[in-house]
Amino acid sequence: MRILVINACPHRGNTWTLTKFVEEEMLKFDSTVEFDEIYLEEISIPFCCGCSLCFRIGHHFCPHNQYIQPIMDKISESDSFIISASCYQGAVPAICKNLTDHLAFLIHRPRYFNKKALAISTTGGVSADSVTKSIANTLHGWGINRCYQLPIVALSWNDYQPTEKHLKLISKIAKKFYKDVKSQKMHSPHIGPLIPFNLYRAMCYDYTPDKEYPTQDGVFWKQYQDMTYAKGIPMPIHKRVFANLVYLIGKKLSPKMIVTYKK
Ligand SMILES: Cc1cc2nc3c(=O)[nH]c(=O)nc-3n(C[C@H](O)[C@H](O)[C@H](O)COP(=O)(O)O)c2cc1C
Repeated sequence: MRILVINACPHRGNTWTLTKFVEEEMLKFDSTVEFDEIYLEEISIPFCCGCSLCFRIGHHFCPHNQYIQPIMDKISESDSFIISASCYQGAVPAICKNLTDHLAFLIHRPRYFNKKALAISTTGGVSADSVTKSIANTLHGWGINRCYQLPIVALSWNDYQPTEKHLKLISKIAKKFYKDVKSQKMHSPHIGPLIPFNLYRAMCYDYTPDKEYPTQDGVFWKQYQDMTYAKGIPMPIHKRVFANLVYLIGKKLSPKMIVTYKK
């Protein structure tokens, strides 16, 4: 099993320490697990400049694609991945937000449907759970099948030592994540991710190459024309009905809210 670890903190501090404990725990369950580490602080990705080329003509045209594409490739090649991000001002650190800004187009054109993820955060006192929740929301938008969360109150500047209670929680979450990845079982998506998926699927017709404001969405969604969610992901009947309803709403709304851009 190959697990990609995206260290989305500006230094190797408390969150990194916690992540190492998770890795050790996973290795206890299966010594063959391989961890491939990315340290965002070593890559120095320039800030997302908001050019929107990823949305309009495709992410390959991002001026920073030389940094972004290798990360996307590593996600694709992994069995699943971990995102590790400290809690700064109740939110993810800028270095993490910069990565997810560069990948914001993924909510328009989701993928990674067979991947599972684990979001890890530490905080001094409060809001580690806000950080892991916000990462989980972002990842569901990317298409990730399930995201586990490990938020921890470290009560420390850079000297985190897990308590007995933390060690138990680390073991429990690491085990759940490992077992789920190992099982290769795909879970039915929550209602949340079905909304953007089916809205974009419906709205793509107004952005095909023959339209006034073509975008990459108009090309991408052809593969999902008759599908309420990605292939191989279980969709019970009530979710299919809901997804089709969202699709119909999207079809109705789309012509009234065409997104323009300067040519
Ligand atoms: C810039 C900055 C902002 C922080 N903001 C918060 C905060 O909003 N709430 C909190 O309880 N702790 C806050 N802390 C403390 C950290 O969340 C805590 O020390 C955390 O474990 C740091 O993880 P790291 O060592 O991986 O960066 C902040 C620390 C820094 C450096």
